[in-house]
Amino acid sequence: MKTTLLAFVAILGMCSATVVQHKLIYRESPKMQMMRRGEWGAYVQHKAALRDANPAVFASAPQNVNDFGDVEYLGNITIGTPPQQFIVVLDTGSANLWVPGSNCDGTCKGKSEFDSSKSTTFKKNGQSWQIQYESGSAKGIMGVDTVAFGGASEQQLLVPSTTFGIASHISSNFKNDAAEGILGLAFTSLAVDGVTPPLINAINKKILDQPLFTVFLEHKGTAKNVGGGVFTYGAVDTTNCGPVIAYQPLSSATYYQFVADGFKLGSYSNNKKSQVISDTGSSLIGGPSAVINGFAQALGAKYHSDDDAYYLPCSTSKGTLDITIGGNVYSIEPVNYILDVGMGDTCVFAAFSFDFGGFGPSWIFGDPFIRQYCNIYDIGQQRIGFAKSLQPSSK
Ligand SMILES: *[C@@H]1O[C@H](CO)[C@@H](O)[C@H](O)[C@H]1NC(C)=O
Repeated sequence: MKTTLLAFVAILGMCSATVVQHKLIYRESPKMQMMRRGEWGAYVQHKAALRDANPAVFASAPQNVNDFGDVEYLGNITIGTPPQQFIVVLDTGSANLWVPGSNCDGTCKGKSEFDSSKSTTFKKNGQSWQIQYESGSAKGIMGVDTVAFGGASEQQLLVPSTTFGIASHISSNFKNDAAEGILGLAFTSLAVDGVTPPLINAINKKILDQPLFTVFLEHKGTAKNVGGGVFTYGAVDTTNCGPVIAYQPLSSATYYQFVADGFKLGSYSNNKKSQVISDTGSSLIGGPSAVINGFAQALGAKYHSDDDAYYLPCSTSKGTLDITIGGNVYSIEPVNYILDVGMGDTCVFAAFSFDFGGFGPSWIFGDPFIRQYCNIYDIGQQRIGFAKSLQPSSK
């Protein structure tokens, strides 16, 4: 049935965009840039000082959003009629869309700003919103308009009547970032103010052929600002990804959260069942400090507290980082978990430790995992699939 339907849709042609491929733009994460310039330590101290100065703000901050400074993959979207284009973080670890607005107070300077008066499809909403991130915030009012995944010159996934945030203020750490806004791709239950996220809206409106999307992230290699990747909405990406190895049921459909059964690197292993989220908006893998320290020890990586980072010689070779999920072992190669950020012979272990106090996930599987395995975010069946990522070099 599915095959027949796909063929039929193909005959209908351009007017029926049920599967849309969205090309990504890779840029080195601001964190890695700062590490290379030797500025990261100062930034970490600055964040700690902010936290100390505003304990109430950080205590009430939702845990469901990422740090701005840690994002590598961006994509173009448009909003309104005629389309106004923005470059946004495509983030499976959050669930709200917002972009700068033309009423922004000056903090959005240098970014594209959405002007609702220039869109014939815009509808007022007027409700105010605020999102507190670990290291910053954004706020404004909400509006309703056609949101399209993909740039104006690409094939687009058009989602009419989508509610989104129009920022009137963004915090300073986001000001200098290449990203203009954030497009959250997780579930409505994770969204601030319960706003239906654009992709969930598309699925509710039955715009997509299948209620799922595939993420393929390309290796960056040693060259800067090359590579990218593709988000495929409405289908499993069979061009850039091998056959699906397995699907794992989501343990919580808020984030894309599931259970992993074991972790192993070199001589260190840990078999504690753990809650994990798959997060395209995180450039590293985050886990409990005991396990991350165990990995670091096995690798011979040294923790630098000023930088809150693990460093190791680039020549280190300790084999794969193995993760057991649902009876399958997923192996992450050193090229994906040891990052050469241009600090001579010193490389970065692509992991950080965080100890989550509550019921949330204890692991964040960011880009190192997703570069190794395409992730299939199956919203309809509340499961996540993994397939070998067919990198250009290994095709
Ligand atoms: C995104 O848009 C910019 C222009 O605004 C363009 O230069 C770039 O190629 C686009 N990227 C992709 C991946 O479409």
